[in-house]
Amino acid sequence: EQIMKGGYDHFMQKEIHEQPESLLQTMRGRVQFQRPAVGNPYLNQRIKLGGLAEHGATIRRCRRILLVACGTSFHACLAARQTLEEMCEVPVSLELASDFLDRRGPIFRDDTCMFLSQSGETADTLRALEYAKAHGALCVGVTNTVGSAISRMTHCGVHLNAGYEIGVASTKAYTSQIIVITMMALQLAEDSISKRERRDTIIDELGQLPGKVRRVLMLDSAMRELAEQLRSVNSLLFFGRGYNYATVLEAALKVKEVALIHSEGMLAGEMKHGPLALVDKHMPIVVVATRDGMLKKMESVIQQLLARSAQLYILCNENDESMKQYEEKGCKLIQVPQTVDCLQPVINIVPLQLLSYHLTVLRGFNVDQPRNLAKSVTVS
Ligand code: G6P
Repeated sequence: EQIMKGGYDHFMQKEIHEQPESLLQTMRGRVQFQRPAVGNPYLNQRIKLGGLAEHGATIRRCRRILLVACGTSFHACLAARQTLEEMCEVPVSLELASDFLDRRGPIFRDDTCMFLSQSGETADTLRALEYAKAHGALCVGVTNTVGSAISRMTHCGVHLNAGYEIGVASTKAYTSQIIVITMMALQLAEDSISKRERRDTIIDELGQLPGKVRRVLMLDSAMRELAEQLRSVNSLLFFGRGYNYATVLEAALKVKEVALIHSEGMLAGEMKHGPLALVDKHMPIVVVATRDGMLKKMESVIQQLLARSAQLYILCNENDESMKQYEEKGCKLIQVPQTVDCLQPVINIVPLQLLSYHLTVLRGFNVDQPRNLAKSVTVS
């Protein structure tokens, strides 16, 4: 086991630190990082997912896409949903597999249902797949496990290729899942001339992503210090919106599942509809305010939280001058490299994974096998 941990103390720690490589593995052979010369007949085909070759045309014509998953895999769907909507221009719905089954929601023959599961064996996701398949929808699997039940039962799919994930709390599979949905969106939109510039920007940034994740991992000791400060809190809130609503839900899930601290991820747009009542000077809050179309709104959230004397930790981009004023008001900044808006969640989650890891170690809990939880939930 010690050898498998490759010099790390825990699998979760190893898997967090492996992300520059696992992301590269997910993209290997599938992304043409160099922009092709103008006039090249394959100019638009910088993404090649073999798993979409046969059914790509059907997906392009579908009337809606459903993303179905549980746990962290569901958060990856949430993170990448906007990109799929933007690129495919069809409605994209998200379904927690258990709730979808409880409701027996309507499914049509011209729906595309995508099932995301690291293990490929989660019972609820599998049951939802059986249900959608029986109703005639095209079923696409995204798993990290070749030969898993979900990869066998779907009509087509894409493997994450992120390598074995052993820690019960999913980390590297999450970032690879976001990348896979993004790559699928980019490939499905490859014929759209109007989206070419945006697509090229995202693909260029995919190439930069492993390096940027390597840089953000250098925050490890800063996150350990932050964990020292937060190790005894009763509750920890995370606020975000837009692409980073997923980031705050996923960060809160990590903190509760491994560090065993009550934690909630809040959609900042809903702040005034309840969460604000919880805020006082004893409430530690992490606000995700990286530079994207939501930044102005997030600044207003920061100001409102400061007006209620919350203890604020702001996750922002490096060299963001507008954040200095908050540092002067006592907020702590967690500064991360910037990438294109839709990929920023991949970078933003990393320091929060590190934070939950260090909180767990400092609090003396089992990192790789949190109490009451299993890596793969194979019963409903
Ligand atoms: C369990 C694991 C989580 C995982 C979830 C879904 O709860 O502890 O880390 O996100 O199952 O698993 P899947 O294999 O379907 O992604």
